[in-house]
Amino acid sequence: MGACITILILSWLGSRNKMQTKKIGKLVVPAIGQGAGGNDKCDDIHRIGIIRLGIELGMTLIDTAEVYQDGHSEEVVGKAISGLREKVIISTKVSPEHGDAVGIKKAFEGSLRRLGVDYIDIYQLHWPSPLIPIEETMEALFKLKEEGKVMHVGVSNFSLEKFKEAERAIKGKIESNQLEYNLVERGIEEDFLSYSEENDILVLAYNPSLKPIKNRLILENIGKKYNKTTAQVVLNWLASHKTVVPIPKTLNFDHLKENAAAFDFKMAEDDFKEIQNVFQPKIVEVDPSKIRVLSSKNEPVYTTLEEALKNNANLKPSPVELAKEIVEGGILKPVRVKVSDDAGGWYEYDLIQGRVRYWAWIIAYGKDRPIKVCIYE
Ligand SMILES: NC(=O)c1ccc[n+]([C@@H]2O[C@H](COP(=O)([O-])OP(=O)(O)OC[C@H]3O[C@@H](n4cnc5c(N)ncnc54)[C@H](OP(=O)(O)O)[C@@H]3O)[C@@H](O)[C@H]2O)c1
Repeated sequence: MGACITILILSWLGSRNKMQTKKIGKLVVPAIGQGAGGNDKCDDIHRIGIIRLGIELGMTLIDTAEVYQDGHSEEVVGKAISGLREKVIISTKVSPEHGDAVGIKKAFEGSLRRLGVDYIDIYQLHWPSPLIPIEETMEALFKLKEEGKVMHVGVSNFSLEKFKEAERAIKGKIESNQLEYNLVERGIEEDFLSYSEENDILVLAYNPSLKPIKNRLILENIGKKYNKTTAQVVLNWLASHKTVVPIPKTLNFDHLKENAAAFDFKMAEDDFKEIQNVFQPKIVEVDPSKIRVLSSKNEPVYTTLEEALKNNANLKPSPVELAKEIVEGGILKPVRVKVSDDAGGWYEYDLIQGRVRYWAWIIAYGKDRPIKVCIYE
């Protein structure tokens, strides 16, 4: 009897850590990681507790960046993984303004110090830099790899065109691209997703948006079949794509457990396709002058071209820098809009996401060239 109970307890403990893994190229990663970004007001002990339980539940890939909370996010991750180094996959990012040879070395040392480690598993360039040649950045990142201080070199927010340019700049393999991917933002399905599958490139999917508002009932009904929540259905759908690993962030212990338990079922092909079709984004081209840009209380938003050119809020990249990048490497994703409630009747849409991209587009091409928008309903 006693032996039976011991076996049951041991198998229950074992199953708690049973997280599905994916092998993408040389990377072996859990089906889901943990995002440690954001600027939420929350004490460190709580954050550390979340990350530690996440690791225990098998979410051993932890994503952070030097820029998150001015380095504090890396410090918190460092405390959370103390004594667990070999169990975790640290994914961090260098900011584009540090992308020159000297800057990368310095930024990398800062990240190591804050994280309390002597190597990084996945080291990524956070955004393409319009100012520093990609050859220089890639060379510096690959030098760290040659020295054994970085296991895998990656990038983030790179369009397919830009990614290929980075690949041409270096002989080594760029092993990952961190991109926004959720039921609303599905731009990567146009090109990068299939490229990643053909070339074994990990896609770390940020902002998986686990609180869908639109068509929620459809997700709920699918969830009922598997006894899963809508968030678990969304995560499972994202991770059904061969190279995709979502990295949601949560500060809620119940959500954390929910996220970890989203992969112990295989969604039927019909359900997968239903989500694929119902959440098909509505993407059209619109005259930029028909889009209204309203100011916001939460973040700096430029409402005129003059303001965007001046960039007084010091946004990085600035609209001017991003314009250069758009001309060279294309736009990363459509801006997000909703149908305008403009009483004057001039504007067709209100901008809801892409406050820098919108002005960058106008700086690059003027107000007459239509811009791709994703209409959010
Ligand atoms: N490379 C880049 O440019 C970039 C940009 C943005 C983010 N990132 C990375 O991606 C990570 C995640 O992105 P994100 O924070 O923007 O987006 P996210 O993970 O989609 O959003 C976080 C929100 O989702 C909620 N959430 C998490 N699990 C949930 C669940 N099971 N049910 C309901 N709500 C849930 C969280 O609320 P609760 O706390 O209440 O659970 C929080 O409000 C970041 O931490 C960062 O590491 C990278």
